[in-house]
Amino acid sequence: MNNSVPVIAIDGPSGSGKGTIARGLARKLGWHLLDSGALYRLVALVAGERSLPLDDTNRLAEAAATMDIEFSAASGSEQILLAGRDVTSQLRTEEIGATASIVAALPGVREALLERQRSFARRPGLIADGRDMGSVVFPQATLKVFLTASPEERARRRHNQLKEKGIDVSLPALSREIAKRDERDANRKVAPLRTAEGARILDTTGMTPTEVVEQVLTWLSEAA
Ligand code: DC
Repeated sequence: MNNSVPVIAIDGPSGSGKGTIARGLARKLGWHLLDSGALYRLVALVAGERSLPLDDTNRLAEAAATMDIEFSAASGSEQILLAGRDVTSQLRTEEIGATASIVAALPGVREALLERQRSFARRPGLIADGRDMGSVVFPQATLKVFLTASPEERARRRHNQLKEKGIDVSLPALSREIAKRDERDANRKVAPLRTAEGARILDTTGMTPTEVVEQVLTWLSEAA
C-alpha cells in the first residue's frame, strides 16, 4: 500500500448509505473510488456463471485473483466490466448480494482480493467503501468512518434503490434478507464487519446524504 496516498475508509452494514456517501465524497474531492462490495459481487457472478460450488475455496479464490475486471466512468455513469462485458446492473441484484456475502466469508477469497483492493490507492486520494476498509485493507487510512442506520431505515433505503432500478421486492422480505446478511457479515471468522480502531461512528438515520458528506469532510479537515 502506498502510505502517501490519502484514503478515507467508509465501512458499515448493508443499506447504511456507504455507496451514496462514498460516491458523493469522491465527486466532491475528485478522488478515486473503490466499491469493494462490487469485487465480492463479481466473484459471486463468476461463481454462478462457471457453476463453481460456493464451498470450493480454491477455485473461488483463483477466480477472485484472475477475473478480468474494469471499473469505468467513461460514459459519465459508472460501469463495471467483466472481461469487457457490462455487468453493472446484474451485480446489484439481492441474489448476487446474498451470494457475495457467502463467498466473502472464505479467507482465500478475501486474501486474493486484498492486493487488488490496495492497488486502487492512487493520487490524489481514494474513497474506499466496504466492511473491512479501515480494519484490514487500509489500516493506515487518513480517516476511518463507520456508518450505521436503524434496520428499518436501511431496508427502506435499499427498497427505494431497487425500485428506482425497476426491481420490485417486498419490504418485509428485504428486511429479513438484510438481517440475514448482517448476521453473516458480522459473525464470520475472517474480517468480520466491525468498527475499526480509531473510526468515527455516524448514525445516519434521518440524515440527508449531503449532511453526511459534510460531516465526513469536516472530520477529514480535522484529520489532515
Ligand atoms: O456492499 P455490498 O452490499 O455491495 O457487499 C456485498 C457483500 O460483500 C456483503 O454482504 C459483504 C461482502 N463484503 C465484504 O465482506 N467486505 C467488503 N469490504 C465489502 C463487501
